[in-house]
Amino acid sequence: MKANILRYSLAVSMAMLASTTYAADVAQGKARAAACAGCHGSNGIGLSEEFPNLAGQKQAYLLKQLKAFKSGARSNPTMKAMVAGLDEAGMNDLAAYYSSLSQKTVAVATKKTLATDKASQKEFPESVFVSMKKSATVEAFPEQIAWKGGPDMLYDAVTPDGKMVLSTSPSSNTVYIFDANNGKQLAIVKVGKAPKGVKVTPDGKFAYISNQGSADVSVVDLKTLAVVDTIKVGEGPHNARFTKNGKLAYVTLQGGAGIAVLDTRTRKMIKVIAVPGITGPHNLDLSADEKTAFVRDFVHHVAVLDLQSGKVKKVITVGNGHGGIDVSPDDRYVAAAAIGDDFISVINTKDLSVKNIKVGNGPHGIRASKDSRWIYVSLTQDNEVAVVNASTMTVEKKIAVGMFPFWIAVRGNP
Ligand code: HEC
Repeated sequence: MKANILRYSLAVSMAMLASTTYAADVAQGKARAAACAGCHGSNGIGLSEEFPNLAGQKQAYLLKQLKAFKSGARSNPTMKAMVAGLDEAGMNDLAAYYSSLSQKTVAVATKKTLATDKASQKEFPESVFVSMKKSATVEAFPEQIAWKGGPDMLYDAVTPDGKMVLSTSPSSNTVYIFDANNGKQLAIVKVGKAPKGVKVTPDGKFAYISNQGSADVSVVDLKTLAVVDTIKVGEGPHNARFTKNGKLAYVTLQGGAGIAVLDTRTRKMIKVIAVPGITGPHNLDLSADEKTAFVRDFVHHVAVLDLQSGKVKKVITVGNGHGGIDVSPDDRYVAAAAIGDDFISVINTKDLSVKNIKVGNGPHGIRASKDSRWIYVSLTQDNEVAVVNASTMTVEKKIAVGMFPFWIAVRGNP
C-alpha cells in the first residue's frame, strides 16, 4: 500500500515536472488533432506508407519537427500548410497529445472485408475504374476485372472515348497507361516527382498529371504516349479540372497558395486564385455553368469559390481528413469524401445544405455515375466500394475490392 502511494506520488510529481517543462494540454491537443487524422490516423498511426506514425513518439522530438516545418528548416509543403495556423502553445499541445498515445498499430488496411454484393449493370451503366493503392491494380467495373499496374496506383482517369485508362504511381514517378478493353499496359511514362491527380483534356488528346513533388504539371500526348510539356505551377499541385471547352485547367495547389489557372493553348499558368478559409486545396470540381469551383481541402472543408470574383462564398465543414469531391453531372449535388471518417457529405447545390451519409471506413475516392443516379465511394480502410443511391441517399451495395481502393474514374463524368 505504502509502496503504491509512493509510486503514485512519484508519478504525479513526474507528470507535474513534465507539464511545467512543456506547459502542454493533452486535451487541447486531442481537439486540435482532428485536423491531422486524415493522414496520421485518429490514433496517431499513419493511414498509409507516406504518413509517419506519431503515436508514442517523444514529445520534444514532435515539437521540434512541428517548429521546423513552420520555419522551413524541414521542408514539406503539406506539413508547412498544416502548421501555418499553429502557435507555439498549439504545437506543444499536439506534441503532448500524440506522445501520450499508444504505439500499438492496428492493421486496418488489411482488414478482411464483409461485403458480399456483386457489381451489376444496373448501378454501373457506364464503365467505372477504381485504382487500388496497396494491391497495385486498377479494377474495371461492372466486370470487376483487376489489371496489374505499378507500385501504389493512386489517382486514375479514363479518356472520353473510353479507350484508355491512366493511373499515377507516385513512388515510381510514372503514370501507367492501360488499354481499357483488356487492361494491357500500353506505356509507363516517366513524369515529374510524386505525381498525384491525372486528368484528360475534353478532346481526349492530352493528359495533365499534377506532380506534387516537383511543383509542376506534366502534359502527356495520348497519341505518342510521351511527355510533351511541363508547366510550372507552384507548391504542391494535386489535381486538375478542365473547363468543358478545354481552354482552361484549374489545378489545386495543396501547398496552400490556392487554385492555379492554366491556359491549355500556351501551356502557361495565367494566375493563382487564393482560397482563404481552408487548409491546403486538395481536389476540386466545377458547377455546370463553370462559374463556381467546389474545393475540398485536406482537413475537413469544402470552399465554394466564385471563379469570377475570386470570393469564397461559403466554407462548408465536412468529414475529417482529405478526400475527393464531385459535382454530379446533372448539377444537383456535390459529393465530398473524408478519409479520416466513415461518412460522405452530399451538398445540395441550390441551398448548400449538407446531408451526411454513413458509408464505411476511410472514404476517399468519390464519383457520381454519368446519369447522377449513383454515387461510387472507395472505402480505403474497408477495401470496399460503396454504391449510394442518390435519390434515397442510402447505401445500395458494398462490393469487396482489392486493397486500399483510392480513386474512381467514371466515363462521362470527368
Ligand atoms: C495531408 C496529410 C497530412 C496532414 C493532414 C498532417 N500531416 Fe503531418 N505529415 C504528413 C507527411 C506527408 C509527413 C512526412 C513529411 C516528410 O516527409 O518530411 C508528415 C510529418 C509529420 C511530423 C513529423 C514526424 C516525424 O516522425 O518526423 C509530425 C510531427 C506531423 N506530421 C504532425 C502533424 C500534425 C500535428 C498534424 C495536424 C495539425 C499533421 N501532421 C497533419 C502529412 C500530413
